[in-house]
Amino acid sequence: MRPVIGVGMVGYAFMGRAHSQAWRSVDAFFDLPLRPSMVAVAGRSAEATAQAAEKLGWAGAETDWKRLLDRDDVQIVDICSPGDSHAEIAVAALAAGKHVICEKPLANTVAEAEAMAAAAKEAAARGVRSMVGFNYRGLGYEHAFVHETKDFLEAIAAGTDPTPSFEDGLRVQRVLAAVEQSAAEDSRFITVEGS
Ligand SMILES: NC(=O)c1ccc[n+]([C@@H]2O[C@H](COP(=O)([O-])OP(=O)(O)OC[C@H]3O[C@@H](n4cnc5c(N)ncnc54)[C@H](O)[C@@H]3O)[C@@H](O)[C@H]2O)c1
Repeated sequence: MRPVIGVGMVGYAFMGRAHSQAWRSVDAFFDLPLRPSMVAVAGRSAEATAQAAEKLGWAGAETDWKRLLDRDDVQIVDICSPGDSHAEIAVAALAAGKHVICEKPLANTVAEAEAMAAAAKEAAARGVRSMVGFNYRGLGYEHAFVHETKDFLEAIAAGTDPTPSFEDGLRVQRVLAAVEQSAAEDSRFITVEGS
């Protein structure tokens, strides 16, 4: 019997639907070392979150994402909420020992992305994995996240760091910030740290 790994997802709109599709089908399509269980989705409105849970295939619904961190049956937190919420949720989830897969862009600011990359590095030393949801895999939304969740589950089982990492997300965040700054400063050339 393969071990079961519980997933809790935050946000159930566009990306939440795409990720739910992945969690529902990844185990049927691939031969995986772990069997994902869709434990709960977190939203804000009780009624809408319960409806989303039923439609998308989640066993439970929570109205505060922090509840996912308290649950022993959740080992992975999947962040599909807007960018301004990523840093707080990811840093808290990693500190709580949850593996984290976070939608892209990693954050809204370089400072947030730096905090997330630092938290991911510290968590990796404890065997806690993190990955950012760049869908580099060149497939449609209905397929890309199936491959993404497969890669994440295999890395967790193997005890290796999956890619793209939060550090990769931080690099992209620096480029995004430089583009924004350049646009605000008459297309001035901006050197990106670490490039
Ligand atoms: N990988 C990709 O190709 C891709 C494509 C589109 C969007 N995204 C990213 O995915 C994320 C979500 O995008 P979306 O288009 O689904 O966003 P959206 O704004 O349509 O939906 C966000 C969801 O999060 C929920 N939410 C907001 N605050 C919350 C909170 N505090 N607690 C719980 N739930 C909360 C909302 O109710 C909603 O369900 C964003 O980071 C976005 O940049 C990635």
